[in-house]
Amino acid sequence: NKIANQILIIFGASGDLTYRKLIPAIFDLYKQNSLPEKFSVLGVSRTPFTDDSFREKMKEGILKFSGLKPENEDELNKFCNILHYLPINTAESKDYSQLTLRLDEIDKNENTQGNYIFYLSTPPSLYGVIPKYLAAEGLNIENNCFRRIIIEKPFGTDLKSAIELNSILKEDYKEEQIYRIDHYLGKETVQNLLVTRFANGIYEPLWNRNYIHHVEITAAESIGIENRGGYYDHSGALRDMVQNHLMQLLALVAMEPPMSIDATSIRNEKLKVFQALRPMKDDDLFKNVVRGQYLPSNTNGNYYKGYREEKDVAKDSRTETYVALKLFIDNWRWADVPFYIRTGKRLPTRVSEIVIHFRPAPQNLFPGQEIHKNNDNQLILRIQPDEGVSFQTKMKIPGSGYRVKNVNMDFHYSQLHNVYLPDAYERLLLDCMMGDPTLYIDSGALEATWKFVQPLLDFWKNNTEAPLYGYPAGSWGPENADRLIEGENKSFRYPC
Ligand code: BG6
Repeated sequence: NKIANQILIIFGASGDLTYRKLIPAIFDLYKQNSLPEKFSVLGVSRTPFTDDSFREKMKEGILKFSGLKPENEDELNKFCNILHYLPINTAESKDYSQLTLRLDEIDKNENTQGNYIFYLSTPPSLYGVIPKYLAAEGLNIENNCFRRIIIEKPFGTDLKSAIELNSILKEDYKEEQIYRIDHYLGKETVQNLLVTRFANGIYEPLWNRNYIHHVEITAAESIGIENRGGYYDHSGALRDMVQNHLMQLLALVAMEPPMSIDATSIRNEKLKVFQALRPMKDDDLFKNVVRGQYLPSNTNGNYYKGYREEKDVAKDSRTETYVALKLFIDNWRWADVPFYIRTGKRLPTRVSEIVIHFRPAPQNLFPGQEIHKNNDNQLILRIQPDEGVSFQTKMKIPGSGYRVKNVNMDFHYSQLHNVYLPDAYERLLLDCMMGDPTLYIDSGALEATWKFVQPLLDFWKNNTEAPLYGYPAGSWGPENADRLIEGENKSFRYPC
């Protein structure tokens, strides 16, 4: 596919995302010859870099974080020549004329034909501001060229603010110009969900309430909140992980087969899943939700700070660093099948996975063998790390009688030789360059997912007695979470 020449303008270019993710991803695309023939990056932010000092800083980032390291200094320098920098105050409308001038200059030199992607990697307070100022300069107008805008999460902090932001953007941009990013959708293994489900004939007949007993979706992280207290203390796990990443995984697991693998068909099917989520009512908010916050602990000889001791976190904060939910999708395929969603910081390990638990065999022909208990047939879709798919089935232990054992049929991506797993940002940036929004979030899905979590946000805000359980840093979260899933011969899977 020949990709049109273009310029990528990154707002917030002195920030961590640009350094760790965006520029290394662009470098990796460069290494694979995937960039357009003429392509430039213009970094924009307040920090007073020059082109040269910006390039030096980005070189460091590439050496540390790119997946395909440069072979030598020359290669790195050659790549860095496509990087430019403009220091302006992006909150000031008057500074935008400088941006227009600089873009005109690069556009003319590089023959990029006015094709611009604006990437907003700034504090969210600027998401409504920058697009307005760009529009005031006419930089939203597609006149024989394209103008796209990529917006990082968080897209809004609740339903109301998400709707407001959507309507501000829609004043100046068409929906096709807006790319709302959720980096989980750029992960290879997340896209593999579509292939696993829809390129195989064997799963679809089983993929429903008749054969699936319940589904677990887990995103565990061993890290704490790092230096992001200022953001995280106003966000919490529900906004940070559930409303976006985990809801997207849920939709891919639960959606109907799309008409085709194009943006509209996939988005339509995902939206139907969100619309079928059973709204959480008063009782569910107590019964089907457990939130937690990590406490200081000494684990394996290491001291881990508690959440309230972290930098920029209120000493009496009630922000959740862990949340587990039991939810239902009220449609024909999934009626009454529980979905358990869990995520948390400072858990024992980093793992994201989806586990499909199949119903047990109808009758136990092997007395004494606990085939009906928790060790059911499981399909485990491992998103990260050790990406792969594992199917847990039962086998006879050789010898007399019938002793039954669980065995795994495993596939690990690492077994594929010479296969490079691209970073999520690499795939997503490339898609936007090509004008393919399939892996981006549309306004319908965005508002539907906020609508689902909103009652919980309100409940926590308005009820100081709503339980918040402490859990020692390095543990699997509040013990109380087990009650969500207990009682039906099952428990959460605790991967190591
Ligand atoms: C981000 C969250 O969106 O996703 C972070 O803001 C979280 O808090 C991160 O750590 C997890 O992403 P990944 O790719 O490491 O699973």
